[in-house]
Amino acid sequence: MKKHILITGGAGFIGSHVVRRFILKYPQYQVINLDKLTYAGNLENLKDIESSDNYHFVKGDIGDAELVRDIFDRYSIRYVIHLAAESHVDRSITDPLAFIKANVLGTVNLLNTALDKWGPSFNGLFYHISTDEVYGSIKAPGLFTEDTSYDPKSPYSASKASSDHFVRAYHNTYKFPVVISNCSNNYGPFQFPEKLVPLCINNIKNQLPIPVYGQGENVRDWLFVEDHAAAIDLIFHKGVVGETYNIGGNNQWKNLDLVKLICRVMDKKLRRSNSDKLVKFVTDRPGHDARYAIDAGKIYRELGWQPSVDLEQGMEKTIDWYLNNEDWLNHVTSGEYQQYYRGQYQS
Ligand code: NAD
Ligand code: TYD
Repeated sequence: MKKHILITGGAGFIGSHVVRRFILKYPQYQVINLDKLTYAGNLENLKDIESSDNYHFVKGDIGDAELVRDIFDRYSIRYVIHLAAESHVDRSITDPLAFIKANVLGTVNLLNTALDKWGPSFNGLFYHISTDEVYGSIKAPGLFTEDTSYDPKSPYSASKASSDHFVRAYHNTYKFPVVISNCSNNYGPFQFPEKLVPLCINNIKNQLPIPVYGQGENVRDWLFVEDHAAAIDLIFHKGVVGETYNIGGNNQWKNLDLVKLICRVMDKKLRRSNSDKLVKFVTDRPGHDARYAIDAGKIYRELGWQPSVDLEQGMEKTIDWYLNNEDWLNHVTSGEYQQYYRGQYQS
């Protein structure tokens, strides 16, 4: 069946993998990618599919009511996969309002438009992509399930939690067709190098210090981005309206151990040694969540999803990609990002 799908944030890290997957796997669908192209959005991420007949790009803000209404009319939008967001915790600490505008007001604008255009009993879907950070921090050996209470601790996670609540409120109040997924930390190709994994790869490559917050004891649960895109594909097609699905790869690593793994793989690839000497312990992030860990049992039991690679396998692929895509890396690390990066930890 022909589906007209609005994917928001498709020029970003995860969004570009989702757009590519849908364009290549479902040539019968029309994909409309709405992206503001912030510092994190980059059309180079989609160069290989940009001239496909079933792909349309619109540059704009999800919070722009007139633009979003126009897109719904012009492209007969029946489905939304909503990824657009401000996504970096450190930036949310210095500019929380930008996160409220994009993540809360932007999401509510999309919901309002869809509700207005579709009506409550519409047979489409609003799929909202969220994060495990809405659950706050959990002590080992605990795992976040879909029933874990929300306890967001950073301005980023508070804004994502708020948007999740609005999505559920629209379902509850208007019987609006929604589905939500909450995923753990992603890594892989096309991730902007302000996040830990690509930052580390880029700094090792350039022999720069690797900033590790605090003592590097914080734990994150890592998932290869293509496995996230596969889960999104599955939930979009098979997920039950009104349900929430946690997504995670059961790869919980202390930050310092992860950084050392990246150093080892980089040393092997670049025929170097002792890249771990670049580790520099720096002032901790304020309110730094100690541990995230996802129980992905529901999506496995109900939809049959499981990750295709573990962290070591996914990291090899990721490092190979960054080493083979120097132009991309050099391009995105020029300009605005450089200014922010210098301000972060070098003094
Ligand atoms: P990203 O920062 O790489 O990309 C975000 C994209 O959204 C960019 O292309 C940006 O230009 C666009 N955007 C931002 N504000 C916009 C606006 N107002 N209007 C239109 N476009 C806008 O982020 P990502 O890591 O790809 O994350 C995508 C989604 O997945 C986010 O909703 C994030 O909360 C969620 N998520 C991310 C992770 C992760 O580890 N990266 C994990 C779980 C969930
Ligand atoms: P990040 O990639 O920013 O993702 P998130 O904050 O959403 O989990 O950070 C991952 C972990 O790495 C987090 O515990 C913070 C830590 N971190 C560092 O130690 N140094 C850094 O330079 C960055 C960016 C993150």
